[in-house]
Amino acid sequence: MITINPKEISIEKLHGYLLGAIAPRPIALASTIDEEGNSNLSPFSFFNVFSANPPILIFSPARRVSDNTTKHTLENVLQTKEVVINIVNHDMVQQMSLSSAEFPQGIDEFKKAGFTPLPSVKVAPPRVAESPVQFECKVNEIIALGNEGGAGNLVICEVVQLHINEAILDKEGKIDAKKLDAVARMGGAWYNRSKEGMFQIPKPISKLGIGVDTLPESVRNSTVLTGNDLGILGGLEQLPTKEEISTFIEKGESGCPHFKEATYEKTHQQAQKMIQKGFVKDALKLLMAMDVLTK
Ligand SMILES: Cc1cc2nc3c(=O)[nH]c(=O)nc-3n(C[C@H](O)[C@H](O)[C@H](O)COP(=O)(O)O)c2cc1C
Repeated sequence: MITINPKEISIEKLHGYLLGAIAPRPIALASTIDEEGNSNLSPFSFFNVFSANPPILIFSPARRVSDNTTKHTLENVLQTKEVVINIVNHDMVQQMSLSSAEFPQGIDEFKKAGFTPLPSVKVAPPRVAESPVQFECKVNEIIALGNEGGAGNLVICEVVQLHINEAILDKEGKIDAKKLDAVARMGGAWYNRSKEGMFQIPKPISKLGIGVDTLPESVRNSTVLTGNDLGILGGLEQLPTKEEISTFIEKGESGCPHFKEATYEKTHQQAQKMIQKGFVKDALKLLMAMDVLTK
């Protein structure tokens, strides 16, 4: 056993131990708006339910350890006192991860992550249509736990309206844990899919993805690619250049089907396999090459 006085180690190290040990943690995908009405969407795993009567959920956007700045979500709830907490399932996990990237203030993470905003009934921030359970909340209180980097801020939310997709209910109308297919956060890049176990998603911290909204329309509207596929493609730092696509076509690079025989479906299925194997940029080159050749 190692025994540690938290005051004697760095905040980064302590943060790592706390998040590694308190795991898995559920994920709140929090939708807020600022005073000008700009949408913001970000995930928070310092999150749980604390009361049924009144129905209270609490999440905590922390001050950044690196520079003690605060998150847009915190600024928005301080201004508007409203939030929608969307539950994250496995089908939307890659897009959720993309929405956590540090996009500048005013950038709409709904668009960047390729999520569909749905109007709420009782609050102004929109819901995430793809989420299986959405909680519209009024913020009763915000408790700052400190003023230094790493300090959390408890956002105490009262649920005023909830929305549940019927597809996750069992015969008795209760939420079926398997159908919900929730994912949770663990230490480092680890996540947990309740029904299957652990998997990893690299953190989009050091790089800013182009976003799903920057992908070509043919890719965004693919009938083959899933939200997770789009989330991974949107995490690329740049679109392939025209030159890169031409070279890709000329060389008939490895793994790509013969363009003459390729159909829409085959090409998108091939691209999906490439994404699953980690050849993400090549997958996008293939999709964009097909666009060029079929124009
Ligand atoms: C799964 C997941 C859980 C996260 N949980 C938290 C959290 O509980 N508290 C926090 O401050 N940041 C958390 N983050 C990081 C924020 O989502 C990230 O800093 C985001 O850019 C904040 O966006 P905002 O400035 O638009 O609010 C988490 C990120 C991910 C991917």
